[in-house]
Amino acid sequence: MKLFLDTANLEEIRTIKKWGVLSGCTTNPTLIAREHSDWELQMKEICTEVEGPVSLETTSAKADDIYEEGLKLAAVAPNAVVKVVMTPDGMEAGRRLVEQGIPVNVTLTFSPAQAILAAEIGATYVSPFLGRLDDVGADGMHVLREICEIYEMQGYDTLVLAASLRHPMHVVEAAKCGADVATMPYSVFSQLVKHPLTDIGLEKFLADWKKLQQELKEGA
Ligand code: E4P
Repeated sequence: MKLFLDTANLEEIRTIKKWGVLSGCTTNPTLIAREHSDWELQMKEICTEVEGPVSLETTSAKADDIYEEGLKLAAVAPNAVVKVVMTPDGMEAGRRLVEQGIPVNVTLTFSPAQAILAAEIGATYVSPFLGRLDDVGADGMHVLREICEIYEMQGYDTLVLAASLRHPMHVVEAAKCGADVATMPYSVFSQLVKHPLTDIGLEKFLADWKKLQQELKEGA
């Protein structure tokens, strides 16, 4: 399972990139707006910084407008992926973008039925939003599992991108479901590496090593 960062913040991207595990990035209008910068330049810089696909989201409602916007977003960089929302207009525009050879990510997907439609238009990614399903009392992981099973059974090429992940167990469970990609905010990415026993163990190793050095120094 590939790991993507869900952010529009360049510092966060640079930090995680250093770990050598960053395979791509997803953005959305909220994340771009949070940066309070020239959004076009911001998108370009993100695409330059990330070695892998970067999802850039359309903000129009009508199919023709989504399509035109999608063409512009695709031209931002060779690694740009156009995000379209799972609506009838989004599907129509998404299909047209796919026909132009543009990779599409169908976002705001909340059910297996919607995921089937995303696969049928030839999207590169489908993004089920787990956390937002949990927020309304549904079972996001169950939906993800069903989507992965259906895709496997049907031999769909569309990649399942588990989104709206809120904690490390979401990432672990998404991997167990067979998701192709997990996208997560910086906070969750940072939590992945953490374990209290690692910190305690390291502290003990370093203390013992320091003690040995001291003993050797005193014995010399
Ligand atoms: C993914 O592409 C979305 O940008 C993201 O995962 C949404 O997450 P949220 O529900 O935490 O806003």
